[in-house]
Amino acid sequence: MSPILDGKKLAQAFKENLKKDIEALKPIVPRLDAIVVGDDPASHIYVQSKKKACVALGMKSHIHTLPHNTKSEDLLKLIQSLNHNKEVHGILLQLPLPQALDKSLFLNALSPLKDVDCFHPINMGLLLEGKHFFIPCTPLGILKLLQSTQESLEGKHAVVLGRSTLVGKPISLLLQEANCTVTMCHSKTKNIFEFTKQADIVVAAIGKPHFIKGEHIKKGAIVIDVGINHTKNLEIVGDVDFESASKKASWITPVPGGVGPMTIAMLLHNTVRAAMLQKENKQ
Ligand code: GUN
Repeated sequence: MSPILDGKKLAQAFKENLKKDIEALKPIVPRLDAIVVGDDPASHIYVQSKKKACVALGMKSHIHTLPHNTKSEDLLKLIQSLNHNKEVHGILLQLPLPQALDKSLFLNALSPLKDVDCFHPINMGLLLEGKHFFIPCTPLGILKLLQSTQESLEGKHAVVLGRSTLVGKPISLLLQEANCTVTMCHSKTKNIFEFTKQADIVVAAIGKPHFIKGEHIKKGAIVIDVGINHTKNLEIVGDVDFESASKKASWITPVPGGVGPMTIAMLLHNTVRAAMLQKENKQ
């Protein structure tokens, strides 16, 4: 049996399912607004693909592009106007921001009900309590990929590589909620492969190309590769060496075509959910 966990196929199935919820919301059309500040080419590509995915599903999406020297007060004004705009259900502030702008100031300014990335401290706090109404997109996508294997997660030893706020920390919470035993590894962990070799589930999110190889994992492990690393030849590769790891894993996500498409599908899911919540709040 092929060990490939096909994120593209799973994301397509999720998006098909979302169409029913979008239909049920009519005449409300869920709308996601993305803000990009500065010239980071990857950020512009990401928000365009998010917009394209919204439009393909019959949702609306607007991109607000601001120059790299945008003043804090102008970005805050834009966020406030989107918070108050009843046509806008989800707001996404694409990261990273230019160095001069302190991201916490702006993430704190987002309406928690429109924070489809789940980056606002209130939403992160609710996640910690297990009382969330949003789950951050990449961690939620990872959980759906794991659930799609139909293997029980209970009691499994999950080793998470990377302690970022976007991926490592929230996925460790979700895996604990799913009754996994979770080990967090990071750049200062000693003998990191001693941990990965014991793992039933490896989640690699450290941004080091081909860091995990077949020899570093246990036979039958489930391997989720969150890495998006650009090589000198402009290729995109993951944190896992797919070639060798796929010979030992029971399931493994490819890069591209694994976690990436699921992140976008979960963003659409969160935007539809935001539209539902805002509709309920009005009623
Ligand atoms: N930059 C990289 N990934 C993300 C993401 O998921 N959301 C936002 N807002 N910015 C990002």
